[in-house]
Amino acid sequence: MTAPSSPVRDFLVQPVRQVSGTLTVPGDKSISHRSLMLSGLAEGLSEVTGFLASEDCLATLNAMRALGVPIEQPSATHVLIQGVGLHGLKGAGHPLDMGNAGTAMRLLTGLLAAQNFDSRLVGDGSLMKRPMERVAKPLRAMGADVRTHAGTPPVDIGGGRRLHGIDYAMPVASAQVKSAILLAGLYADGATSVTAPAVSRDHSERMLLSCGVRVVTLGLRTTVFPPQRLLGQRLNVPGDFSSAAFFIVAGLLGAAEGGLLIQNVGMNPTRTGLMDILRSMGADIEIRDARESGAEPVADLLVRASPLAGIEVPSSLVPLAIDEFPVLFIAAACASGETLITGAEELRVKESDRIAAMGAGFTALGVAHEVLPDGMRIAGRPDGYAFGGGEIDSHGDHRIAMAFAVASLRAAKPLLIRDVANVATSFPDFVGVARGVGLDLA
Ligand code: S3P
Repeated sequence: MTAPSSPVRDFLVQPVRQVSGTLTVPGDKSISHRSLMLSGLAEGLSEVTGFLASEDCLATLNAMRALGVPIEQPSATHVLIQGVGLHGLKGAGHPLDMGNAGTAMRLLTGLLAAQNFDSRLVGDGSLMKRPMERVAKPLRAMGADVRTHAGTPPVDIGGGRRLHGIDYAMPVASAQVKSAILLAGLYADGATSVTAPAVSRDHSERMLLSCGVRVVTLGLRTTVFPPQRLLGQRLNVPGDFSSAAFFIVAGLLGAAEGGLLIQNVGMNPTRTGLMDILRSMGADIEIRDARESGAEPVADLLVRASPLAGIEVPSSLVPLAIDEFPVLFIAAACASGETLITGAEELRVKESDRIAAMGAGFTALGVAHEVLPDGMRIAGRPDGYAFGGGEIDSHGDHRIAMAFAVASLRAAKPLLIRDVANVATSFPDFVGVARGVGLDLA
């Protein structure tokens, strides 16, 4: 899957002034990936509803099938997984193509490091440039045979190694690295601990607990104890907060009277840093009907148009909003005064260099900004048009493409957003949902 299947290469977005109505965002990407991996290792049948049938998650689904896990998909969002047990996976016999999906590649590296067969993981042009040593290094410390090529994929994993529990101090607050180590830790000869420099998303820990695995988090330290078995699960995946983020900002910039209602949004506190940041900028976001869906909190969000004021974003919130910075940059460009984002150097190694890609887009659209090594300083324009019009390159990054589509609410002229096919990696029907609330995308 090196070429995305979506035929849409560019978005032509006409300026609009308002959004309105109710929308539902697709299932959470992080949880959907994990549901396939853990259900595959479990004993018995697992049933996942609300699954995100996006290119990234389908890469994981195809990989798990290739590793011998029977998976049926009665409908796009409904998946039945016949778990093969902790020791039931079989070698694929060919390289596993993870497409654009960093989460799939990093988590599977951890899982495959503990198997008794060899594996090779590859991906698309963007994924083949992303850092993999951050995962390989701790896995090697556990005794695994994991090789990268100058730090990047292909990742080659030698099977048949006996893994040892480690106590690892992780240099970056990465949920992917943490999760890869926890997955390998399921097979270790003792407990495995990961200590992080800051909190990151905890979906793996929650789902492992649901599958009957003993996982203990004390402050920034998480420990997994190797289980005898994983239990199958029935899981309803909540809507992806990261997909909701585009519409949260759209609502703040232009919700009609009555607000914009976003239903069934995952509200795991390790994911909702953007809410805190936007609220401290003056956002009016009402949390309605807060409830639990399986191991995860969920709510509906009513977003009202709000004047925003620039802030210095606390660096403690960066890992809790790591995927939301492209659209936060758009909000900041529409706020009064200056917004300063620092401590976000991880943005440079996402699906694109998001600091550079947003900076180039801002230059094209006339937004005053200063690119910093670890963030950006943005001078907002709250009145009139924060953005001119013109052409923006998304650099094949789904979140850059969707963020600039939201900018159309404050654009003077049409926006032509290039290279948007990868929107299908996380939000296949973005165009339909966006049009449904009033954005004008073609
Ligand atoms: C993810 C973790 C984050 C995030 C990515 C999904 C996950 O990456 O950016 O989109 O599902 O664990 P890092 O772990 O590299 O911060």
